Amino acid sequence: MRFSTLIVASALLVSQALAAAKFNVTINNANNTIVQALEQSVEPGGAGTVPANCTQQCQSILTTFKACDQTDVSCICTNNTAIGLENCQQCLFTALLVQNIRPSNPLVGSATLLSAFSTSCNKTDFPKLALNLTADWDGPQSLHLNSPINIIAVIAAAIIGMSSFYILWNIE
Ligand SMILES: *[C@@H]1O[C@H](CO)[C@@H](O)[C@H](O)[C@H]1NC(C)=O
Ligand SMILES: *[C@@H]1O[C@H](CO)[C@@H](O)[C@H](O)[C@H]1NC(C)=O
Ligand SMILES: *[C@@H]1O[C@H](CO)[C@@H](O)[C@H](O)[C@H]1NC(C)=O
Ligand SMILES: *[C@@H]1O[C@H](CO)[C@@H](O)[C@H](O)[C@H]1NC(C)=O
Ligand SMILES: *[C@@H]1O[C@H](CO)[C@@H](O)[C@H](O)[C@H]1NC(C)=O
Ligand SMILES: *[C@@H]1O[C@H](CO)[C@@H](O)[C@H](O)[C@H]1NC(C)=O
Repeated sequence: MRFSTLIVASALLVSQALAAAKFNVTINNANNTIVQALEQSVEPGGAGTVPANCTQQCQSILTTFKACDQTDVSCICTNNTAIGLENCQQCLFTALLVQNIRPSNPLVGSATLLSAFSTSCNKTDFPKLALNLTADWDGPQSLHLNSPINIIAVIAAAIIGMSSFYILWNIE
């Protein structure tokens, strides 16, 4: 009787320990909660002068993430949060392009954040997240992020894409 109570008690402890693991996005080998990662994205001035609707969009998705229990993947990883995160990063990315400036932090206007998020969510029926260049950008069409299976190749491609872009900027 006591023994089985112990087993139940330790099973509960184990399941609590498992349940307590926070949802992380892994960026440069560091684990961040999605709130920690997105807070860096939306730091004031991180993307120069950001249009007010962009800030609103980003604050809105940040609020949505903050409202989730940080261990609750089903709250964090929905199509709506994915699209909200994508729109926020696209808005920041466009702001950077328009001003022709580099982000102060790689998580601003970040394809890396989108791919880390997709990878951590690890869902097959998930929107494909990508950042588009502006219509007048004379370069690759967009930075596409596919299913987790393709993610390594895509991250590499995105890094190459981003560097060629920096090179182009520097040339100009
Ligand atoms: C998130 O990162 C923390 C800190 O490194 C780690 O303890 C935790 O296990 C990670 N969560 C998941 C779900 O991997
Ligand atoms: C991130 O979380 C994973 C899973 O819990 C863990 O294996 C890894 O060591 C963590 N990395 C860091 C840098 O904390
Ligand atoms: C934000 O507002 C600007 C100027 O009104 C507009 O051009 C742009 O399309 C808006 N962006 C979004 C994402 O609503
Ligand atoms: C992703 O999900 C698949 C299928 O559910 C699972 O086999 C795999 O271990 C998961 N990968 C990670 C990194 O959690
Ligand atoms: C989420 O988006 C994916 C990819 O666009 C789609 O296949 C799936 O049906 C959507 N799920 C929901 C619940 O809308
Ligand atoms: C990027 O462009 C594609 C194709 O026009 C569009 O479907 C997608 O919604 C755009 N992504 C963002 C973040 O605006």
